[in-house]
Amino acid sequence: MDIRFLGHAAFELTDGDTTVLIDPFLTGNPKAAVSADEVSADAILLTHGHADHLGDTVAIAKRTGAEVVAIVEIANELREEGLEVHDPNLGGTVERGWGSVKLVPAWHTSTTPKGAVNTPAGLIVNFAGKTIYHLGDTALFSDLELIAGRAGEIDLALICVGGHYTMDRFDAVQAAKLIGAREVIPCHYGTFPAIETDVQAFKADVQADSSSHVVVLEPGESHSP
Ligand code: NI
Ligand code: MN
Repeated sequence: MDIRFLGHAAFELTDGDTTVLIDPFLTGNPKAAVSADEVSADAILLTHGHADHLGDTVAIAKRTGAEVVAIVEIANELREEGLEVHDPNLGGTVERGWGSVKLVPAWHTSTTPKGAVNTPAGLIVNFAGKTIYHLGDTALFSDLELIAGRAGEIDLALICVGGHYTMDRFDAVQAAKLIGAREVIPCHYGTFPAIETDVQAFKADVQADSSSHVVVLEPGESHSP
């Protein structure tokens, strides 16, 4: 499988047949690698309802027919838009033909642009034989170790590092150690001035202090975990 960083916290997973998008914030994203009308999607997975994550979900799902997996309060709002939704809550797993996604805790806040208050989540995705953990927007918390341990070997962790709205690159090093993924891709940095950070220093710190390998992707770049 391939993972492509679309900018901010948005990623595209593909196995050549099926495409899964996570947090497709493209319109209004100064770092977006693609526009909302040029991505394909069979499924869209959401960590939470903030505009920089919900993003272009409605437009992409309406154009492509993609199903959406999001925590129940967001799913209910999206259902009213006519989208096909799956509505787990924290701890729940949605199994689909393309793979599965489990919603796990993340320490953050969230309200959608239309006003639905929702609890943020991390996503543990099984796709094309790989386990990918998108942490969502979270602060550091010690249960990351418990959550990751329950998921078995994690091939790839997508970790926010920008600070201000999430944990910063120093706390993210500790998060990476708790998770112990084979590979880490940093995200949620550099999009806006408030979340600029030294991502190469994050990479060096993680690799000095754990066995995880850090892959820094520019928006638009892909990687095969
Ligand atoms: Ni957020
Ligand atoms: Mn965010």
